[in-house]
Amino acid sequence: MRTLIVLLICFTASQLRAQPTDILFADFEAETYGDWTATGDAFGAGPATGTLPRQMEVSGFAGKRLINSFHGGDGSTGTLTSPPFEITRKQINFLIGGGGFAAKTCMNLVVDGKPARTATGPNTQPGGRELLEPQSWDVAELAGKNARIEIIDNATGGWGHILVDQIVFSDKRLAAMRANARREIVAERQLLNLPIRNDAPIRNAKLIVDGNAVREFTIGCADAAPDWWATLDISAYRGKSLTIEVDRLPDDSTFLTTIDQTDAPKQADTFYREALRPQFHFSPSRGWNNDPNGLVYFNGEYHLFFQLNPYGTKWGNMHWGHAVSKDLIRWQELPIALHPDEFGPMFSGSAVVDWTNSSGLGSEGKPPLVLVYTAAGKSVQCLASSTDGRTFAKYPQNPVVKTISGGNRDPKVFWHEPTKRWVMVLYAGFPVPAKDAKSKPSERHTIQILTSPNLIEWTPTSEIEGFYECPDLFPLTIDGDAKEIRWVLTAASSEYMIGRFDGKVFTPETPKLKGHMGKGFYAAQTFSDIPASDGRRIMIGWLQTPSPGMPFNQSMSVPLELKLLTTPEGPRLSFMPVKELESLRDATKRIGPIDLNPGDDPLADLKGDLLDIRLQFEPAEASDLELMVHGASIRFDAKERQWVVNGHKAPAPARDGKQRLTVLADRNSLEIFTDDGLTYIPLPFIPKDADQTVRIVAKGGTAKVDFVEVHTLKSSW
Ligand code: FRU
Repeated sequence: MRTLIVLLICFTASQLRAQPTDILFADFEAETYGDWTATGDAFGAGPATGTLPRQMEVSGFAGKRLINSFHGGDGSTGTLTSPPFEITRKQINFLIGGGGFAAKTCMNLVVDGKPARTATGPNTQPGGRELLEPQSWDVAELAGKNARIEIIDNATGGWGHILVDQIVFSDKRLAAMRANARREIVAERQLLNLPIRNDAPIRNAKLIVDGNAVREFTIGCADAAPDWWATLDISAYRGKSLTIEVDRLPDDSTFLTTIDQTDAPKQADTFYREALRPQFHFSPSRGWNNDPNGLVYFNGEYHLFFQLNPYGTKWGNMHWGHAVSKDLIRWQELPIALHPDEFGPMFSGSAVVDWTNSSGLGSEGKPPLVLVYTAAGKSVQCLASSTDGRTFAKYPQNPVVKTISGGNRDPKVFWHEPTKRWVMVLYAGFPVPAKDAKSKPSERHTIQILTSPNLIEWTPTSEIEGFYECPDLFPLTIDGDAKEIRWVLTAASSEYMIGRFDGKVFTPETPKLKGHMGKGFYAAQTFSDIPASDGRRIMIGWLQTPSPGMPFNQSMSVPLELKLLTTPEGPRLSFMPVKELESLRDATKRIGPIDLNPGDDPLADLKGDLLDIRLQFEPAEASDLELMVHGASIRFDAKERQWVVNGHKAPAPARDGKQRLTVLADRNSLEIFTDDGLTYIPLPFIPKDADQTVRIVAKGGTAKVDFVEVHTLKSSW
């Protein structure tokens, strides 16, 4: 046994070692290209020392330098050509990465004036990695021929560059990557299960049916044991032969062979029970989520669509995931609603119920649910519709709004009754050239306002500057007074302005105000079509909660009820958790009124995994009142009149001399609400060692605690 192991080790080591007969043709370790010829500006003056400015981190190259055509960014082009040589070995081995565009970001072996072999990097879509990986050309049949190597960067968009290193002529194939590795499977069940590793290089994969790539995506293939399984719905292709193709895989990868088919997701009984799974915040069962999309109440259900990467735990492959709930709290995840198509990935957008069927996308007595989204390949706005809230058909004449500026996105649509028009707020950025040689070009961020009679034909009406991504515009009453209606314009950062809106133009009455006071809350939007009898304006935001090592990543905030409340500075936006959250309450401990003296610790014996804490107090003589929740410090600093949450500061004006606090604690987040929601502090937070403790202490003197209520919550799953 021992000898075998020793032999094996020697064998592997000798495989890696350069063969004595190898010819190192180019290692690109010099400062200049030497006898290679460069044209254009993409390749710079010589090999790069790794990552270039504004480039994601480059890895996988040998030594200190490599060929990197990202000089001047993706926009630059050029070629790099080797001196001629004679082909004297069976293989040409090299490392390659960057753009994956045939003939545009490539390396060619030119024989008799024509490319006899060609290779590209793996990346064609947003996402991906700047990773060089081995490739080999079998050139045995070209022995004795004269050749040159030509490296081309003739692409100017995303991934418009190429990385190359370590070109070696050898008689041995490099422990190689298989290009366009394929497996055929006859579709017999609902789902394909794809084995994923979270730290694997990102590869391009396709599902090919009848010769057409019906799905194209990037994926971190598990070459051996997977971290988790992603699913791909194949129910539409039953009985057909499917080809799964990956642009490259190590020779010994088990990725393709372990793919199998099932009717239900594998390991479904473990879903939502994972250690870092948020228990009362929505997160998709598998994969990555970012923005909430298409929040709408339709046919008795709240719909939550969301930016989803079904095949990885990082951003990429944007789909619209879908979940429904009867109470905003208990969500059921449904099949993906929108898949990427020829217009590109499915970026953020909104949904409305078209009650009068103005779009014609509904049928008799069945008003359609209309999704309005950005297709990001061409930055156009598109529609999809449904009458059952389950299946979605893309509008055949998409797009409905053509590109206004590159990257314009995130349409939020609503019905404006007084003008009887649909209104769309849409983010659009416009390049601003550098003023002089010293300054940099910048971008003017605008929200475009468009109107439409039917969701299909849109007319631009006005624009507002100073907001970036994911806008929303909605009316609220001030202090609940139906005669005092103001409009709130907000965008991804949750900053907002309050003003008037006449159906075409938003006229601000405040400067831009700060929204949430925490971290990691982004791209929120409000629900459409909540019945008038309810009348609430409810928002959900993307809560950027990392969940390391899990088969999912990120989550949503709890649904927040928004109000405009009068303050000495004028009306301001308040955020409070919706009352439905109370339905998760399990056990409750209530204390108060009490005088909380320094040294007292009335909650010392309390423990809870999921918590909803409500507190009301007057600081009185205390300099500080501190709640410790799962090890996080939530401290009221009476002198500065502010809350300090794990060092993160937020103002606390106190509306009637009383401090009121709500704390929601889940597995990887805290959400803190003070001043009746005028201060909302969301924070990603993972308790150390699954800490479940709660404490309340006063410092510097006695605090008057009216009550502290600690509710343990049940899981919403
Ligand atoms: C905001 C955002 C949107 C875009 C989406 C893409 O987080 O950048 O502007 O539509 O994410 O996933």
